[in-house]
Amino acid sequence: MSALSSAPPASPGTVPRVGLIVVATARYTRFVPDLLASARRHLLPGAADVRFFVCTDRPAEIPPEAVPLPVEHRPWPYATLLRYHHVVRHAAAFTDCDYLFQCDADMRFVADTEGGLLPVGGSGLVGVEHPGFCWKPSRWDRLRQRLGFEVRRGRGRRGSYETDPRSLACVAKHEGEVYYAGGFAGGTRDAYLALARTLAERIDRDLAREIIAVWHDESHLNRYFIDHPPHRLDPRYCYPESWQLPYPRILLALDKEHSALRAPL
Ligand code: GAL
Repeated sequence: MSALSSAPPASPGTVPRVGLIVVATARYTRFVPDLLASARRHLLPGAADVRFFVCTDRPAEIPPEAVPLPVEHRPWPYATLLRYHHVVRHAAAFTDCDYLFQCDADMRFVADTEGGLLPVGGSGLVGVEHPGFCWKPSRWDRLRQRLGFEVRRGRGRRGSYETDPRSLACVAKHEGEVYYAGGFAGGTRDAYLALARTLAERIDRDLAREIIAVWHDESHLNRYFIDHPPHRLDPRYCYPESWQLPYPRILLALDKEHSALRAPL
């Protein structure tokens, strides 16, 4: 279990340097200005020196405060599947960062992040429990809890791990308890770069055998997190915009028109 820092004090020169990496190619660049403005306001306000990196094929559309990192546009699902390849390819750009986070382009911060976002110790990684599988106790579960009985997650809520043994993302039936969202994750620079290198290599080895895991990069992230347990954030950091969950909203996953965004250019 990792010890966690609360928000570090804000004094110049001592604040942690945090890089937020966003992949935004083709139509997804439209999300970047609002995402960065929201992160500027809400991501570790007063507690970190936040820098933005946007992996894109359209640098002219990226706000000047972000560092554009050139990548080619590849149609879905490669835009998400290859996110770790982009991190590895541009690793030198992150030398001055103490921590790295990656979030989907179509997300938006709507409230200040809280202490505990930056990991100390443990695997050095941070993951967000997927909102679709978080444990929502039924009334019966709540009654059992009140009476002091242990209430476990149902198997159906375990998450959508890759179960095909041919994929390097495969999770066996006896493994895995928490299913993490691929949309927001991070860690110390070294821990996150190690994760990115391993995932890019495993995804390549899958692709060489014409395998793409069921939820693409997210499946590989979940496999990695079983072996390197992250500090777990609840779904307030991946809150689907139109859902109602028993958490406050900090980072929204925006509702979007998938087919229009993913249509061939
Ligand atoms: C969906 C989400 C996908 C993937 C999937 C996993 O709700 O839109 O991106 O995370 O859950 O089952």
